[in-house]
Amino acid sequence: MTVTDFSAGAAWISGDIVPIAEARIPILDWGFTRSDATYDVVHTWDGTFFRLDDHLARFWRGVQTLRYQLPVDDAEVRSILQQLVDVSGLSNAYVALIATRGAPMPGSRDPRDCRNQFYAFAIPFVWIADPEKQKVGLRMAISDRERIRPEAVDPTVKNYHWLDFQVALLQAYDAGAETVVLLNSDGNVCEGPGFNIFVVKSGALATPDRGALEGITRQTVIDICAANEIPMVIRPVSVSDLMEADEIIITSTAGGVMPISQVDDTPVGNGMPGEMFARIHRAYWDMHSDA
Ligand SMILES: Cc1ncc(COP(=O)(O)O)c(C=O)c1O
Repeated sequence: MTVTDFSAGAAWISGDIVPIAEARIPILDWGFTRSDATYDVVHTWDGTFFRLDDHLARFWRGVQTLRYQLPVDDAEVRSILQQLVDVSGLSNAYVALIATRGAPMPGSRDPRDCRNQFYAFAIPFVWIADPEKQKVGLRMAISDRERIRPEAVDPTVKNYHWLDFQVALLQAYDAGAETVVLLNSDGNVCEGPGFNIFVVKSGALATPDRGALEGITRQTVIDICAANEIPMVIRPVSVSDLMEADEIIITSTAGGVMPISQVDDTPVGNGMPGEMFARIHRAYWDMHSDA
C-alpha cells in the first residue's frame, strides 16, 4: 500500500484532498483568467487556528459582495480547513481559502452563468520576515507606483489584484530593498504586498485609514494597543510620517508583527527594531498561547 505524503501541504479541490504539488484548478475558472476571486489566509500556531472566526467573517463578507453562491457553508469550510491541517500534520500552517467565479458556460461572458467554486489549501507557515530577519528588520522601498484605487477595486474584499505589488516588489529588489510600500492616489501611505503598516512616533501608533485591506493582524495590533493603553489612531499617514517615524511595524498573517529598519536609504530611528515593536511583538505571540 502506498502512503500519500501530505507533509509539504494539502489542498481541497472539488471534494478531494490531494498533496499540494498535485493540486490543480480548471484553466477556464475566471478566478484565474479574470482575478474574479476572493480569498483569506488564516494560520495555525502549535496546532491551533488564530482568529479563525474573524478570517471567516471577512471571507464570507467578500463572498457576499461578489455575489458568489458557494457549494460549501461555514461549517463545511471549518471542517475542510481542519482536515487539511490534520492530514498535513503541520502545527504551524498557512491556510488559504479561496472562492472564485468558476468557469463560464461555453461561449458565455456573463458572470451569472458560472458555477462558483471553493478551494482551500494548507502549507507550512510563511514569513514575510522570519524570526532571524526580525532581529534586524527589513529594508523597505517606497514605490512610485500607486496602489490600485479603492474606487476601482474594493480593498476590503481580499483580492488577487497584485500586479501593482509584484512590479513594485521587483523594482524594490533592483534597488537593494527587501520589501516595498505603495502609496494611495493622494500620495499617502497605503500598504505593501501582503501587509498593513503602522508608524510609531513618540510612543503613539498610526495606521492608514484608506485604500488598504483591513488586516486581521492590523486589528490584533489595534486590540493590543487598546488593551495596553498605547495611543493608536487610524488616519492618513504621509510619506513624512514614514520618514520621520521612530519605528515602523508591518503586520500580516504571514509572519505576524515585523519591524522595518530602513526606508529607501534612511534608517528608521537608530536603524534597529525598537521597543514598541518588541512590546507589540511579545503581546501578539502571547495571544497565541492564550488561545
Ligand atoms: C493586500 C494585503 N494587505 C494586508 C494584508 C494583511 O492582512 P492580514 O493581517 O489579515 O493577514 C494582506 C494579507 O495577505 C494583504 O494581502
